[in-house]
Amino acid sequence: MYSPAFPHQDIQELFPDVFWVHGSVRVGPGMRLNRNMLILREGRELTLVNPIRLSDAGLVDLDALGDVARVVRLGDFHGADDQFYVDRYQCLFWAQAGQSNYPEPGIDVLVDEASPGPVKHSEFFVFHNARYPESALLLHRSRLLITTDSLQYHKEWTHFSPVSKLAFRFLGFHRGMNIGAPWLKRVTPKGGSMQHDFERLIELDFDALVGAHGQVLRMGAKAAVRTEVRNLFGLEAEI
Ligand SMILES: [Fe+2]
Repeated sequence: MYSPAFPHQDIQELFPDVFWVHGSVRVGPGMRLNRNMLILREGRELTLVNPIRLSDAGLVDLDALGDVARVVRLGDFHGADDQFYVDRYQCLFWAQAGQSNYPEPGIDVLVDEASPGPVKHSEFFVFHNARYPESALLLHRSRLLITTDSLQYHKEWTHFSPVSKLAFRFLGFHRGMNIGAPWLKRVTPKGGSMQHDFERLIELDFDALVGAHGQVLRMGAKAAVRTEVRNLFGLEAEI
């Protein structure tokens, strides 16, 4: 049984051969929030990252872009629409080992830092200390870092219902760059910290960022992440 397609905007090109869809998801009664999918193109081959199910019209647009060759899951909490795409396109499914929230589909290609990225000039970053699998994908050419729940840039609350907006504020989200607070709470090991992972992430060469929620930050993303890390983990974070 697949999740339905929720309202979304048209596919837009972010960088050459990098597209995104800004969409939404209903997570409970009166609770709607935004969600993003990235589409990477290489020749005719398409890679879907943080998949969200598109409407029938959206799928026509997707098919016009190329052929879906693989689905990449970066975050354990985002997997609701992966099976839909794997079944529709009979494509490969990439994910880290140990998926717990959505154990399906079966993994064809394991994601880790040793594995090559799904397109040329890309690499995976893995949050080693997280209790649930979470990674990010860096596209070197556009210096774009694609995250799921770990980092989210919220410029505005598009597709958020009033209740979700309140809930997000209550959970500690703010405008600008956020380390997702509920995600951080769930993935932080007991008595441990995710600080070291974020210190490693800051070493990556990126300038733009887009998460599975929020908007795209096209420039200055690294500085924004650094500020958020300092605010969250304290000034002693030497980054
Ligand atoms: Fe999420």
